[in-house]
Amino acid sequence: MADTIVIVDFGGQYKELIARRVRELGVYSLIKPSSVTPDALKALAPKGIIFTGGPNSVYGDHAKLCDPGLFTLGVPVLGICYGMQLMCHMHGGTVASAETSEYGAIEATVDTHSALFSGMEPTQQVLMSHTDRVVGLPEGFRATAHTANCPIAAFENREKNLYGVQFHPETELSLNGMEMLRRFVFDVCHAEDGYTMDVYLKEQIEAVKKQVGDRHVLLGLSGGVDSSVCAALLAKALPGQVTCIYVDHGFMRKNETEQVKAAFSQRDLTLIAVDASENFLAALAGVSEPEQKRKIIGRLFVETFEKVAKTIGKPEFLAQGTIYPDVVESGTDAAVIKSHHNVGGLPKDMGFIGVVEPLRGLFKDEVRRLGTLLGLPDALVNRQPFPGPGLAIRVLGEITREKLDILREADAIWREETGRANVRADQYFAVLTNMRTVGVMGDFRTYDYVLALRAVTTSDFMTADFTRIPWDVIARASARITNEVRGVNRIVYDVTPKPPATIEWE
Ligand code: XMP
Repeated sequence: MADTIVIVDFGGQYKELIARRVRELGVYSLIKPSSVTPDALKALAPKGIIFTGGPNSVYGDHAKLCDPGLFTLGVPVLGICYGMQLMCHMHGGTVASAETSEYGAIEATVDTHSALFSGMEPTQQVLMSHTDRVVGLPEGFRATAHTANCPIAAFENREKNLYGVQFHPETELSLNGMEMLRRFVFDVCHAEDGYTMDVYLKEQIEAVKKQVGDRHVLLGLSGGVDSSVCAALLAKALPGQVTCIYVDHGFMRKNETEQVKAAFSQRDLTLIAVDASENFLAALAGVSEPEQKRKIIGRLFVETFEKVAKTIGKPEFLAQGTIYPDVVESGTDAAVIKSHHNVGGLPKDMGFIGVVEPLRGLFKDEVRRLGTLLGLPDALVNRQPFPGPGLAIRVLGEITREKLDILREADAIWREETGRANVRADQYFAVLTNMRTVGVMGDFRTYDYVLALRAVTTSDFMTADFTRIPWDVIARASARITNEVRGVNRIVYDVTPKPPATIEWE
């Protein structure tokens, strides 16, 4: 087992980022709630502990404290932002509200002889985001950094192996933040960098073999990154024991179903791909309300899956592509059957004796790296997020096969052109509106659909900005779509952020 650093969560927005940064250094990390007991932590044998930031004040009614025993496990602790203030407060120091909040990239002067900043330049750009701060050092601590407005921007107590930073070394705006974390993880905690996707893969193959033995596993393959990587891993761990059901609802993008089939045809698993598009289209006939569309698709998806599953005997295990953020967000480490929004919610009551979740320790970027290691093609591994109901919620209003075909072609051209452009867009797709307008083609009047192009830049998909795609890219896509796709004579580009709009149009 690789060395581990435990991140103790006090409610800050960067807990997953901190955990990912530690893993980028090659050391495994886990996130635990602030209520974690010293014994539970000890059982994980961590090399170090990092306290996250948090929204509260240590003096507030809702302040999250921790068991003081966490400080005396003989394991180094680094407190970040609120984590530092809490460490200060619980060791008899003083925390107070600053007159002005400090927010943004700020210059800090660091003590280059301290543990976290040794050998670094004395002036460092760091990201500050706080109102409270340490104003009185606890006994035995010394200040190791300051900014113009924050006299104690970092501290240390080497004897007790306790360290704190008021700023956020995990963010990119702290330019040498990774170097600071590196010093904590390796110089202070003496962790070894044994965590790689190779190691994870080997461990999971062993674990899955042990869990499943010679029994059988069923997996719902959606074509998304997580279920695809899960399938590839299981085929390697349990050759011949895995059955994947891929339900094609008819709302996939151009060539997607073929790509999924091709990616798994050579692997040691049974892939059952069901073309249920007729059923889905029939169920949606005359339906134009978005939530109703989603409900019908979700229900039919589960029904189709169950019907197929019944024809293949009785697999003992259900596999799921649950990943670490799902585990952290659900606030529990217990095995729960994820309501898999991406494939519409899989059956919970089919009498499985267990759930197999070989990706539940991984972040998304790690899942992608693992997929590449397992030899999956780039198109699958770097797939954009794609809604479970697929193109059905991108054909606005009532869905017909003709409209789906128009959208599929136009969307493929837009994704091809945007993919080639040198811009960071996290999700980009086309939407077929329900509106037709007059146009002219050659000497003829046309009366065809308006197609909308969308591209957004976002880190969490909760908020998003529209991407500033260069005009010439939009012009090229527009020219190609109106030339190559019959049925579209006008193109518009969506320039609304989320909020007030959502990313999808329905
Ligand atoms: P919105 O449109 O809510 O989308 O801003 C946020 C993200 O969620 C995706 N999305 C869905 N995913 N089933 C899904 O699995 C859905 O019904 C659904 N609706 C939206 C959307 O593509 C974006 O990434």
